[in-house]
Order: sequence, then structure tokens, then C-alpha cells
Amino acid sequence: NEIKIFCPATIANLNCGFDVLGLCLEGIGDEMVIRQTTEKGIRITKITGADLPLETAKNVAGVAALALVNTINPDCGFEIEIHKKIKAGSGIGSSSASAAGAVFGINELLGRPFTKPQLVDFAMKGEALASGCEHADNVAPCVLGGFTLVRGYNPLDVIKIQSPSELFAVVLHPQIELKTSDSRAVLPSAVPLKDAITQWGNLGGFIAGLYTSDYSLISRSLRDVVIEPHRHKLIPGFENVKNAALDAGALGSGISGAGPSIFALCKGQDKAEKVAYAMSSSFLDTGIAFDFHIS
Ligand code: HSE
Repeated sequence: NEIKIFCPATIANLNCGFDVLGLCLEGIGDEMVIRQTTEKGIRITKITGADLPLETAKNVAGVAALALVNTINPDCGFEIEIHKKIKAGSGIGSSSASAAGAVFGINELLGRPFTKPQLVDFAMKGEALASGCEHADNVAPCVLGGFTLVRGYNPLDVIKIQSPSELFAVVLHPQIELKTSDSRAVLPSAVPLKDAITQWGNLGGFIAGLYTSDYSLISRSLRDVVIEPHRHKLIPGFENVKNAALDAGALGSGISGAGPSIFALCKGQDKAEKVAYAMSSSFLDTGIAFDFHIS
């Protein structure tokens, strides 16, 4: 009994929704093979594409899988093969893809004893190993697809958000590693009230825009006055790439998750291609290798 799964990359935060908003990307992600075994427990048997620990307790997929099996103690175990395509520290949910993939696959093999929101909760335990804190804004869209909102963490309350069909995401991925823990370390612990007001106004506006296909409202709401001012310095060429995206007609642009990837949302595929070209051209100045993705 085995299952082969695709574990998609994700964009977290989307400017106005730090730690609560996320978006699942199409066509970019890891692959995983999970096998049911008679021997109990979780074993990571093979990892390709990345230098990651095989030891279950030190591997995000292993920790997430353990969180699930420890809850129901099934009469079997699982072997996990991970084929990484998403680079660690890229800002498009590499660790989340592994954590979400493991619990999704095991749940399928067990005949779906858990709901998708419950899987998000288990996956978050694996994600915490990588980033140093529990957040679900990458694992939620990875499990549920599309846009998701973490309405609350205690208890976890995850909602799938409707989105317009013509919305495209562009991601420029500089080939440098930025650890989520380092990217979180630069953030202040308190937010001025006026910035909080701006941010939650934008978050509400963004969600309303998605539901009503109001691209102008989506565009006006894709701002970040809380996180980006502290994190942008960690990303070479960020301001230039963001401005290039906006000049080329993107609805908005910002840091993907904890960075260093930079994302833009666009209306229509033609616009997305134009924006991807503009972002890439402006990033060339940094001399850093990169790749980009449109979905
Ligand atoms: N919300 C998280 C952050 C996503 O920005 O730190 C990164 O995993």
C-alpha cells in the first residue's frame, strides 16, 4: 500500500496577512512517496534534492507524521521518501510542503480519519521544527489549496478563501538562503496602533476583493506597513524588483513568506508574463542567480 503525492509550494503573508494568509502555487512543489509498513513508527528512507536529516525527530515531515500517528496509534507504520524541488530557505514554503505532504499522504493511506483542518494542525508541528514557532500560513494552503486564512490559532481555525479565476502569481526566487528564524528575528514584538489599523483594513479589503473579484480593491489592499519595513533589507534588490513589478502593471508585490523570494499578483496571464520579465530584468543588477515561476 503506497501513495505518491505532489506537495505544492506556497506564498505566505501576501503583504497584509502576516502569519494568517497563504496561497497555494500550481506546478511547483516536491514529490513524496509514502509506504505503509507492518512495522510501527515513521522512517524517512530517502531524500533527494536536499541535504536534510533522515532522523525522524529531526525532519519536518517526520515530526508532522509523528504528530498524526501519535494521535491515533495505528496498527502499522510508514516509510517516507522525499524528493525536494523547493529549496530550503527560499520563502515559498519548502518545509511546509514536506510537513503537509507527510500528513496528507498518511491520512489517505489510513482511509482519511482526519479532516483537512486537522491535518493542518499536525503539519504545523513539523513546520515549527524548521522555523522555531508554530504558524500555519504555508501549511494551510498546501493542504487545502487556493487562498487560505488562519482566522485563529488557539484553537486553530483555518478557512479556504474564494478567489477570482484571472489571478496569477509571479515568484522570483533569488538563489540565496534566508532562514525563517533569522527573518523573524528582525521583527519588533510590538506594532504601533496606527500601523495595525492600516494592516487590518488592508487584510479585510484584500479578502473582500478576492470574494468579489474586485481587482482594484485587491491591488489597493496588497500593502504591508508592519513586516516589510523590517525585512526588506535582508533581500538584495527587493525595492527595485517590487517597483519593476508595479511599473509593469502588477496588482501588488512584496516578500513571499519570510523571503528571499519576491512575489507579485497580476490580473491575467499576459500581464503576469510581462511582470515576470520586468522583475527578472531588474534583479539582474544584483548579480545573484535566480529563477522565476508563474502560476
Ligand atoms: N508567516 C511566516 C513568516 C511564513 O513570514 O515568518 C514563513 O514561513
